[in-house]
Amino acid sequence: MLREVTATRYVAPLRSGGSVPGVVEADDLGTYVVKFTGSAQGRKALVAEVIVGELARALGLRFPELVLVHFDPVIADGEPHQEVRDLHAASAGVNLGMDYLPGAKDLTPDLAQYFRVDPLEAGRIVWLDALTVNVDRTVHSSNLMVWPTLGTVPARLWLIDHGAALVFHHRWDASDPAKAYDFHNHALGHYAPDVRAADAELAPKVTEDLLRAVVAEVPDAWLTEFGTPDEMRDAYVGYLHARVRASAAWLPTDFPTREELAAEEALRAAQTRQGRPKWLKQVPDLHGKPAAEQDWSVHLG
Ligand SMILES: Nc1ncnc2c1ncn2[C@@H]1O[C@H](COP(=O)(O)OP(=O)(O)OP(=O)(O)O)[C@@H](O)[C@H]1O
Ligand SMILES: [Mg+2]
Repeated sequence: MLREVTATRYVAPLRSGGSVPGVVEADDLGTYVVKFTGSAQGRKALVAEVIVGELARALGLRFPELVLVHFDPVIADGEPHQEVRDLHAASAGVNLGMDYLPGAKDLTPDLAQYFRVDPLEAGRIVWLDALTVNVDRTVHSSNLMVWPTLGTVPARLWLIDHGAALVFHHRWDASDPAKAYDFHNHALGHYAPDVRAADAELAPKVTEDLLRAVVAEVPDAWLTEFGTPDEMRDAYVGYLHARVRASAAWLPTDFPTREELAAEEALRAAQTRQGRPKWLKQVPDLHGKPAAEQDWSVHLG
């Protein structure tokens, strides 16, 4: 069971996240990133967060603790922006919290240039993304964090944000569990991910029992699309179990090299420049670059 905590202080919205998660402190003195049930991404995103995150943890990947957060919008009364206030008002009750990793940095393309990732670890992460059809771990938005960045232990990769995984749950009837997946722009594609080793190691671990245990962590209140919550759990278990058995069909290979990706970016940049009026042609090229506020590489020199 996920632990339950009550948010006691609202710290700030995380505006870099599309769903505008909030950082809160809770009654256990922890600090959490809260994904709200009232966000435009909806409850399915939270279902995906729980299932994929807990599966990652069970397979030995680093993933911050998830908790259920009781949230009363009153604690965020000082939030000045109406759209964020509306999000809070629509989210009174139980939401999803993730342990906040203080000082963690997003794995941006710049940071990735000198942060080493072992091909085996990269392979395990890519394999998990392929199994769970995660469309949001790309070079543009890695949803990987580097932490800790201060202290004596080495910085390691942490997985976050699986809200865009399990895309099949948006089209249950039309999804083939053996469908191949395009990992062309995967954030770890240029680390030579050893997906075959990951498949040999991880596929046997993804048993029906493990899937049942993971899916059991999703609160009933978020499993309302069809049937009873347990019938929905069966559907997730059935799909993922069929997919893991079909891994030979979707195992991603042929990752483009760092140089090929750079050449593609350069081509895209040239096309953009071509379409611009003369007076805009000298504007700095931001293709493939992180937004300024996400570029923490300067701090890691
Ligand atoms: N547990 C965490 N600890 C520290 N920082 C975090 C944590 N979770 C998220 N963040 C920061 O907040 C940003 C947004 O989080 P996240 O990607 O989970 O939100 P989102 O709304 O799902 O975003 P999007 O859909 O736009 O990718 C992350 O890129 C990261 O910088
Ligand atoms: Mg994200």
